Amino acid sequence: MSTLLSVEDLSIDYGRRNPVHAVRNVSLSIEEDEFVGLVGESGCGKSTLGFAIARLERPPAQIVGGRIHIGGNDWMSMDAESMRKARWETVSVVLQSGMNALNPIMTIGAQFRDVMEQHGHRGRRAIEERAVEVLDLVQIRPEVLRRYPHELSGGMKQRIAIALSLVLRPKLVIMDEPTTALDMVVQRQILENLKALRHQQSFAMLFISHDLGLVLELVDRVVVMYAGEIIEEQSSRGLLKHAWHPYTRALMDSLPDPENPKGSYQGIPGSPPDLHVIPEACMYAPRCPLVQESCRTSTPSLETFQDVQSRCPVTRQEVVDGVGVRS
Ligand SMILES: Nc1ncnc2c1ncn2[C@@H]1O[C@H](COP(=O)(O)OP(=O)(O)OP(=O)(O)O)[C@@H](O)[C@H]1O
Ligand SMILES: [Mg+2]
Repeated sequence: MSTLLSVEDLSIDYGRRNPVHAVRNVSLSIEEDEFVGLVGESGCGKSTLGFAIARLERPPAQIVGGRIHIGGNDWMSMDAESMRKARWETVSVVLQSGMNALNPIMTIGAQFRDVMEQHGHRGRRAIEERAVEVLDLVQIRPEVLRRYPHELSGGMKQRIAIALSLVLRPKLVIMDEPTTALDMVVQRQILENLKALRHQQSFAMLFISHDLGLVLELVDRVVVMYAGEIIEEQSSRGLLKHAWHPYTRALMDSLPDPENPKGSYQGIPGSPPDLHVIPEACMYAPRCPLVQESCRTSTPSLETFQDVQSRCPVTRQEVVDGVGVRS
């Protein structure tokens, strides 16, 4: 496998005067065909990062440092025309409100034609065949091509948005909470569609969600953000065995009990910090049950140990001492 996406040291602020440092020094890579999940509480910077990777950031968001390469191409210095072409063809995006991104006055078929024609595809029949093929991937029948969005349910529209995102065979699809607005049954159907998809078309995915349980079912590797930084990164399989960072552990502990899925949702006590002034300390220290004095006076770095990246020296030491067992 080779690296498809490489983000190095990326920082994004909102505003210039008294900025919010929403994403700080994030480095992240995704291999071809790999599914990666990006998780963390509301406001930790997931969408800001995902949008910037697709170069869809809008003022007051501003990339203030770092590099993004996709398929070896410098994604930061691309001109507008190359960017327009690359969108859909190299990277496509599905949003929580993706279903609302469908044009209400065009049939679904016309929207597929529109995207494909804008990218140089010609021939009504060939375009329709490709649309039918990707709709089939999300189990939608060809008849919908003649329908308007208002005639379809939210779940169908979101599946159509997913099909549309795949129509030009992009190398990377960024999905930002694609199922959050839908009810549980429809969420589940879409999750099953997404799981099956990767066996049918080759692409990599960055799946953004606050729902770690959902993410663990779908992706190969999980990246956990807290207050604008990556605090842990490891394989889904590894994470299910042992979460390293105390924040990741809190996220794991807040997952509903599979034996009692209707049981009460345990939130994490406390709230995330203000991102205007970044202290010389661990950002999670005020909420951390394992906090030590050094956590309040120095910024821990993200370090790799046993294939896990974690920003917590305290729990890393547990593993070294054999308290946190890695089998
Ligand atoms: N337009 C804006 N102006 C100023 N700050 C912003 C703006 N948009 C977002 N932020 C701040 O940037 C930070 C990251 O927000 P972002 O939307 O990326 O988080 P998120 O992880 O996607 O959250 P959610 O799970 O709620 O979608 C938050 O602290 C937020 O308050
Ligand atoms: Mg978001």
